[in-house]
Amino acid sequence: MRVIKAKDYADMSKKAADIMAAQVLMKPECVLGLATGSTPIGLYQNLVERYQAGELDFSAVRTVNLDEYKGLPKENDQSYYYFMNDNLFSKVNIDPKNTNLPDGMEPDSNKACEDYNKIIDSMGGVDIQLLGLGHNGHIGFNEPGDSFVPDVHCVDLTQTTIEANKRFFASIDEVPKQAYTMGIRNIMFAKKILVVVSGKDKAPILKEVINGPITPKVQASVLQLHPDVTIVADEDALSMM
Ligand code: GLP
Repeated sequence: MRVIKAKDYADMSKKAADIMAAQVLMKPECVLGLATGSTPIGLYQNLVERYQAGELDFSAVRTVNLDEYKGLPKENDQSYYYFMNDNLFSKVNIDPKNTNLPDGMEPDSNKACEDYNKIIDSMGGVDIQLLGLGHNGHIGFNEPGDSFVPDVHCVDLTQTTIEANKRFFASIDEVPKQAYTMGIRNIMFAKKILVVVSGKDKAPILKEVINGPITPKVQASVLQLHPDVTIVADEDALSMM
């Protein structure tokens, strides 16, 4: 794992955007694996600015997102579809037909997962997968457990995750309790992985991810086995290393 130390959130966002932008420049028809959460927002802003400056062209880029809440319609401002549209897709020249997220409104979990797995597999390999890190070490919505689930699946969100996400909803009762997420095989099959981490509150889990044992209790620890992982983290997030 390559660890790049950034000074602060803005610097982390810029350094991570450099890596994503390099991918788009090197291979304009690349497949980007994208993530939501508050951490990548600055990175997406950087990409939008580079597009506006005429430096980046997304017209041939295809994207596949990690996860989506089950039961939230696209118009809900907390759905990951809405997030991606708001932070990136509507601001660059990407073809909406080339963007993919799990269908959160498909009530049949098996169908939703099978369909999304097929989409991911049909893309011929993700060139770079962006990941944020949950406080409990989750990636996508792969929550701590007794095993690594390989493929797209429906998860019951843990109490910690529901608590962490409640700040975005009017009340905790409105936080969805389930989500569809890529599995660990889907993530590990990406050619490159880029993890963005910011803040003191992520320092203990980041230490586990980088130096701890590889265990499904800390799902992101499996990234130690991937041949091309870059972690861009700020000083606060690296303060326990
Ligand atoms: C959510 C997402 C993850 C994300 C995590 C961390 O639960 N499903 O993909 O990495 O939150 O979010 P944040 O960046 O806001 O800390």
